[in-house]
Amino acid sequence: MREKPVSTADLRKCKQDRQPIAVITAYDYPSAKLVDEAGVDVILVGDSLGMVVLGYDSTIPVTMEEMLHHTKAVTRAAKRALVVADMPFLSYHGSLEEALKNAGRLMQEGLAKAVKMEGGTEIVPVVKRCVQAGIPVMGHIGLTPQSVYQLGGYKVQGKDAQAAAKLLKEAKELEEAGVFSLVLECVPEEVAAKISESVSVPVIGIGAGAGCDGQVLVFHDVLSYASTIKPKFVKRYADVGSVISQAVSAYIDDVRTGRFPAKEHSFHASEETIQALYGEGVKS
Ligand code: KIV
Repeated sequence: MREKPVSTADLRKCKQDRQPIAVITAYDYPSAKLVDEAGVDVILVGDSLGMVVLGYDSTIPVTMEEMLHHTKAVTRAAKRALVVADMPFLSYHGSLEEALKNAGRLMQEGLAKAVKMEGGTEIVPVVKRCVQAGIPVMGHIGLTPQSVYQLGGYKVQGKDAQAAAKLLKEAKELEEAGVFSLVLECVPEEVAAKISESVSVPVIGIGAGAGCDGQVLVFHDVLSYASTIKPKFVKRYADVGSVISQAVSAYIDDVRTGRFPAKEHSFHASEETIQALYGEGVKS
């Protein structure tokens, strides 16, 4: 495993070498430490944190302050992986200067190495402005969760020829605008493969099949960690939720039945202190 920090240039080289890129989300210090030590290439502080960590119904309520809070925790832990932070809903849809300021905060205060933005043609000017200022930008097209109410739900995108051609056009426009990579979410495998081979930047798929240059999944989905959604594209690698539930139930039971704490979990006073407290002949 490479020890030096992963750069955007390394990701481009992975694409050239046909070396698939592994991306996973993380939202706090312990999860970021574990996925970084496991050797993931990119950690995405996704605004999915709104749903899997903060309990919102969608990513829309997530604020800049929440993104910053979680990005700071992740970047404290990540020693090797490239940390990309999501720009939350409406943080890049006002003026270009406001978008630049928000992207800059994720890097200067959050210490992210790059930001991610959802959208196609309409965000090209914002991407250009941030890239000009030296901010690496990851694009995100296909199913863009911040537009869920406009899209009418979490549905597969680019299914007909016209929609597929639009996605391909947007991918090229974003590449031209300077993104270093592109997330492609919930798109038929054949469409995603065509987009991946048509752009020079690495395309990271989620629900976009095996033809992408890399894959991203949400930490809580991969681990079944209090994750209630079960989309077709998620592969579950562990059942951490059950492990936690069983362990906490056992703890509750031990406390209630007096099995915890046992002698080995307790500190003990000296003989002299015990005698002073309890008097002669009384033992703990
Ligand atoms: O917010 C997120 O976690 C994402 C990924 C699902 C790509 O955008």
